Amino acid sequence: MSTVFVAGATGRLGRLIVDSLRRRDVRVRALVRPGNTEGRQAFDDPAIEIVEGDIRDPADRLTRALQGVDVVVSAVQGGAEVIIDGQVNLLRAAEQAGVPRWIPSDFSLGIDRLDYGDNDFADLRKRAAESYRSSTVAPTSVLIGAFLEVLNMPFYNWVDWESGTFNYWGDGDQPVDFSTYSDTAEWTAEVALDPSAAGRTVRVAGDVLTLKELRRAMERGSGRRLEARQLGTTDDLRAEIECRKAVATDAFEYLLLQYNWAMVTGKGKLDPLDNHRYPGIQPIGAEEYFRQTMR
Ligand SMILES: NC(=O)c1ccc[n+]([C@@H]2O[C@H](COP(=O)([O-])OP(=O)(O)OC[C@H]3O[C@@H](n4cnc5c(N)ncnc54)[C@H](OP(=O)(O)O)[C@@H]3O)[C@@H](O)[C@H]2O)c1
Repeated sequence: MSTVFVAGATGRLGRLIVDSLRRRDVRVRALVRPGNTEGRQAFDDPAIEIVEGDIRDPADRLTRALQGVDVVVSAVQGGAEVIIDGQVNLLRAAEQAGVPRWIPSDFSLGIDRLDYGDNDFADLRKRAAESYRSSTVAPTSVLIGAFLEVLNMPFYNWVDWESGTFNYWGDGDQPVDFSTYSDTAEWTAEVALDPSAAGRTVRVAGDVLTLKELRRAMERGSGRRLEARQLGTTDDLRAEIECRKAVATDAFEYLLLQYNWAMVTGKGKLDPLDNHRYPGIQPIGAEEYFRQTMR
């Protein structure tokens, strides 16, 4: 039986990854930060060993917790101190412990195709990946497009269900990749148990739709009408990002537009997709997702 160490196990994706691993009868070692009592209590299963700690802990402490581990999965979220410093620290500990493989916390659109400067969060992951290259621990980057769940968050300004408006940039004809958190967790568990994924990038998506198709899928799924509202061209979007960036005090003031830009220009498109490598996973598409969540 494999043992998988999950960092970020108490997060939205991390919890689902733990569940997906347990459904496959994998022994899980879950890293829970000190003081996260609620997160700790969620793991009521003797096959889940809780390790209290932080990925920025001294590496020798983490090395002890990583003894006997086959794969490290990271589903952490945060800034440079977590995505770069923390994950590289975790990787060094994994090297010391002789762990053969790991999955860093990428779970995004095609960040490997983006240039530095295109997306601040992708930059962190790209910079961290430069440290992985020479490591004895083989990385597998799992890329899934955009989470369908985020489309519903008002913060993202994609859809306003109250006014019945679907907002988009560009011409709406560029195919975009979408996946749910649950399907991403299932793929991650499969990848963790697939030694042939070592050193590769795995690109998977639950659905691939242009934004025009996405609007119609949302309408069919939810049973509600959404009027399309074009916010501008992709060049307008780029200009809006630069404007906001020039005066921003926080990356979140323009970050979501950067993700949007990578989607609607096709620069972050996942290609080719590896869904066929994991035929046991039948992901749900956008229409079904909105049927399940909006009815
Ligand atoms: N493609 C998309 O559309 C999309 C959208 C959202 C997120 N994502 C990606 O999905 C991944 C997971 O995101 P999420 O939404 O599940 O995040 P989340 O719910 O915020 O969970 C983050 C996890 O990281 C843990 N963590 C943070 N700093 C840590 C540290 N120093 N040491 C140990 N653990 C630490 C948190 O612990 P605590 O519980 O103790 O805070 C939590 O378990 C990230 O890579 C994120 O970028 C992708």
